Amino acid sequence: MKSAYSSLPKVIAHRGSSGIAPENTLASLHLAGQQGAKWVEIDVMLSGDGTPVIFHDDSLARTTNGEGLIYKTPLTDLKKLDAGSWKHDKYHQETIPTLLEAIEVISQYGMGLNLELKPCEGLEEETIEASIDVLKQHWPKDLPLLFSSFSYFALVSAKSLWPEIARGYNVSAIPKAWQERLEHLDCAGLHIHQSFFDVAQVSAIKAAGYKILAFTINDEALALNLFDQGLDAVFSDFPDKIQSAIDSAHLK
Ligand code: G3P
Ligand code: CA
Repeated sequence: MKSAYSSLPKVIAHRGSSGIAPENTLASLHLAGQQGAKWVEIDVMLSGDGTPVIFHDDSLARTTNGEGLIYKTPLTDLKKLDAGSWKHDKYHQETIPTLLEAIEVISQYGMGLNLELKPCEGLEEETIEASIDVLKQHWPKDLPLLFSSFSYFALVSAKSLWPEIARGYNVSAIPKAWQERLEHLDCAGLHIHQSFFDVAQVSAIKAAGYKILAFTINDEALALNLFDQGLDAVFSDFPDKIQSAIDSAHLK
């Protein structure tokens, strides 16, 4: 199977097109698709009864009208929550999508998927196993699929359960032992927080054959500057804005 990194675009819609639409909802995925995004990044975790759902936080409070912990709440209760009004009233019908619902929308636009594995601590294996079950049945084989995670155990599970799917290692700062870690986890890319971009480290990482991606960049000038210094791709809440800047600068 071809590594998803071989078709990595310069811009990945972060949590969908989440600068305008509510993050990690079907609305943010539709918007990314309508804006022509090539890939989206979304976060997956388990509902209280074991269904993979698209959500960023452990707590329901920030992005829904619910409260408590997502991994203690069954899917039927999660589905009753409004996951859109916090962003804007017009999104009041948005709910927390299941992974399957997200796949249906993403594939409708022919976009690639970077699925960030965000398991509750201790539920790494269950989360990755359930997500892979859904993906093996429903993700179109001709579209790029990349796993990433901050979680060591999630990446180990992904490698053991579906080794053919490329993996990226999420970190904030670039670890001193980046090469050992990437080799150990068998990851082909390092995804860093943009504030820790360091040109010397980045050139060493690229010279060793790894891709380097940075989150989250919403400023066009910063994106262009980091591309110039070797960055391969950015995660952005405003993918259309960054893509326009790339097009205007005639970057390939
Ligand atoms: O996967 C890149 C980025 O999404 C990681 O940070 O907190 O936005 O999930 P976060
Ligand atoms: Ca994420």
